Amino acid sequence: MTRSPFPVPFGWFQVGWPGDVAPGEAKPLRFFGGHQVLWRDEDGVAHVQDAFCPHLGAHLAHGGKVVKCEIACPFHGWRFDGEGTNTLIPYSGRTNAKGRLRTFPTIERNGLIMAWYHPFGDEPKWEVPEVAEFNDPEHFTAVQTRHYTIEAPWQDLAENGADSAQFRFVHNTEQGPELRGYDVDGPRTSMRSLQKFPTPRGVVDGTIDADSWGPGFSVIHFGGIVDTVLMGCNTPVSANSCEMRFTFTVRKLGDDALDSTVGDAFVNEVHNQVIQDTPIWENKAYLARPALADTDGPFTKFRKWASQFYAEGIDTSAEVYEPDGSYPAGEVGPTASQKYGSAPIA
Ligand code: FES
Repeated sequence: MTRSPFPVPFGWFQVGWPGDVAPGEAKPLRFFGGHQVLWRDEDGVAHVQDAFCPHLGAHLAHGGKVVKCEIACPFHGWRFDGEGTNTLIPYSGRTNAKGRLRTFPTIERNGLIMAWYHPFGDEPKWEVPEVAEFNDPEHFTAVQTRHYTIEAPWQDLAENGADSAQFRFVHNTEQGPELRGYDVDGPRTSMRSLQKFPTPRGVVDGTIDADSWGPGFSVIHFGGIVDTVLMGCNTPVSANSCEMRFTFTVRKLGDDALDSTVGDAFVNEVHNQVIQDTPIWENKAYLARPALADTDGPFTKFRKWASQFYAEGIDTSAEVYEPDGSYPAGEVGPTASQKYGSAPIA
């Protein structure tokens, strides 16, 4: 029995932030059920490629050297360019055209390094958009980031977005978001919700606009208190585990101290919610046919949308897919509802 019916989905996925790798450096990555090398050439361009040299399998991020715009293997010095072509065998006058390094299309956009993964090597099927707020330092603060490793399949994490009822129970919020729209169009989803936010001055009516481009890239705009924008990126480490990276910015209020107080409060609140969600995600089963309430969120629509990203197919042999271990809960700080005394559910 597998942990979930899903293989690793295809799409654009965040593999790091630009500061993770300097020009001339190579770093190991573990994503998509494999090993990769992230390296930055001396022109500043980032590359993601399979970690193992096609000659005899050395790991290019463990001792490999960036030489101008190529990476040299630590074992016998073969070199590869950013397309994965073997450009030099130092002890031969020839190169090996078959000795190619698998190369993942890689971009840097919105202050993220993103790589396209497809199990069969298909070219990207959609673009990652520019997000205005992350390209507007005059009006938006420097980003804050958070990074988590979660032992659960991508789909279980992403399904939270469709699950409005869980907010009251897992996060003790005043009430769950009120769904105003959930549209699906190819790899895109757009969800519009109303939400009450607890604040030191009482509960404030706000909005949450969540937009996704495939399984790995979501942008969430929170309105009502102060404009806050979050890029949420789930990247599969394997079929059953994910790295989750959050990148936040807040509209500047014209006062650095206030900007940082508002930003910190918001980031802490989201961080607490992830810590609260994690033991649910890590210990839950996946039910092929859940028993839903009439007022539950748009699970069926979400699952149909998600199913398009599994090029290797979905296992349909079971009704229940159970976790393979038991995972402890993390430390949770007080939530905004608890701090500000708004009435959580009894
Ligand atoms: S294993 Fe890489 S050059 Fe030999």
